Amino acid sequence: MQSNSNQLQADNGRQAEPYKIKMVEPIRLISRAERERALTEAGYNPFSLKSEDVYIDLLTDSGTGAMSDKQWAALMMGDEAYAGSRSFYKVKSAVQDIFGYEYAIPTHQGRGAEQVLFPHLIKYKGQYVLGNMHFDTTMAHIELNGGVPLNFVVEEAFDTNLDVPFKGNFDLEKMDAFIETHGRESIAFILVTITCNSAGGQPVSMANMRGAKEIADKYGIPLLFDAARYAENAYFIQQREPGYADKSIPEIVRETFNLGAAFTMSAKKDAIVNMGGLIGIKHDIELYQAASATCVPQEGYVTYGGLSGRDMEALAAGLYEGLDADYLASRIGQVEYLGNQLREWGIPIQWPVGGHAVFVDAKKFLPHIPAEQFPAQALCNELYLEAGVRAVEVGSLLLGRDPETGQQRAAGAEFTRLTIPRRVYTNRHMDVVVQALVRIWERRDTVRGLEFTYEPEVLRHFLCRMQPVE
Ligand code: F0G
Repeated sequence: MQSNSNQLQADNGRQAEPYKIKMVEPIRLISRAERERALTEAGYNPFSLKSEDVYIDLLTDSGTGAMSDKQWAALMMGDEAYAGSRSFYKVKSAVQDIFGYEYAIPTHQGRGAEQVLFPHLIKYKGQYVLGNMHFDTTMAHIELNGGVPLNFVVEEAFDTNLDVPFKGNFDLEKMDAFIETHGRESIAFILVTITCNSAGGQPVSMANMRGAKEIADKYGIPLLFDAARYAENAYFIQQREPGYADKSIPEIVRETFNLGAAFTMSAKKDAIVNMGGLIGIKHDIELYQAASATCVPQEGYVTYGGLSGRDMEALAAGLYEGLDADYLASRIGQVEYLGNQLREWGIPIQWPVGGHAVFVDAKKFLPHIPAEQFPAQALCNELYLEAGVRAVEVGSLLLGRDPETGQQRAAGAEFTRLTIPRRVYTNRHMDVVVQALVRIWERRDTVRGLEFTYEPEVLRHFLCRMQPVE
């Protein structure tokens, strides 16, 4: 009884949604027969499903959030001037205020920021970019610029049962030893991805980021952030790291970004816009000038960078809304709500849950399906057939082949990611997902692996076609 009433109190006090719903968008569950037809037509690849054939869409938290009434109102204030837009100056002022960075360049989304900034940081072919764990488009932009992306995330990240608070951390000793061996000149920069999406939306501790900064300083290497989930990482630090319980989210964000020289950001996540990205540069004017010169031909003039004035208005507001402590408690509380239930049913997930998603451990869920038959993709498809829920594979299929050798790269984990859009679904929707996964869990031996019928060379997971293995 005691713990139940405590639980009730905790939920009432912190985790209920700090907003009410003003507008709704109908969704519909099509029949099992229609889902079977839709998935076959989609080549067993959930990316190729029509969204109207999806009931609950947990493909991504990127650009799928619900904007607030303030953001919608801000759209009307967009200044669509080609140059010097008032809306741009609002974004710039928010970047200065929140992150303490002097320069801001808007881009159409996160990968736009990577495409504009990375050529100025990777000085020659074969230079390494060291990260905790790079996101796939980030890896692609490093490689397109001749760089070699390397991951130094702690081993614990791949032990999904191990209950440690910061599975997105760097193995600092390993990274230090690598730089020592290969020499400072071989390293272009260190990129800290917060939260660490590919490891399960796992946070990086302040102590670990400070350690990474010390290594960066020791060798004179720039340290940057991939800042898509800047606020969720700060929330985890506040909740889990000794010494941070009394610090506010804005204080923790500022302390984090003090450690970096620049960031790239997909604003489609924590900044809760449907489209947008950003480059922030602390004070290196030469880097800012170089990036500006690349931005103009690729994304657009530096005061819009691929965004309309109204997009920038929504972005300036969203950058602040993402920092709201009650919102973060409710948002991450919802991810925990889903994760806790799955765990109670014995379904293997990355534990503790991440900020934006529950990552189901498909290696353990479907141990009879080998990595080359993509167990996490098989589980995504099964979940769609069972309940019209769309999830996404984060494993061997996404990782793809080594561009030099053509060999499948070895994935540390096979995850089916249940990604929760911000301010969109209720906990009743989460219950539907739990019930569907439990039903599959109970007949998991019957799920079959997949093989390609069409495999594109680059970023194959988006466009490939597959069929169940006989
Ligand atoms: N960095 C991280 C950590 C990301 O998660 C993403 C996108 C990007 C960069 C690229 O940003 O999509 O705006 O160009 N992640 C999405 C996802 C697509 O589903 O996890 P973008």
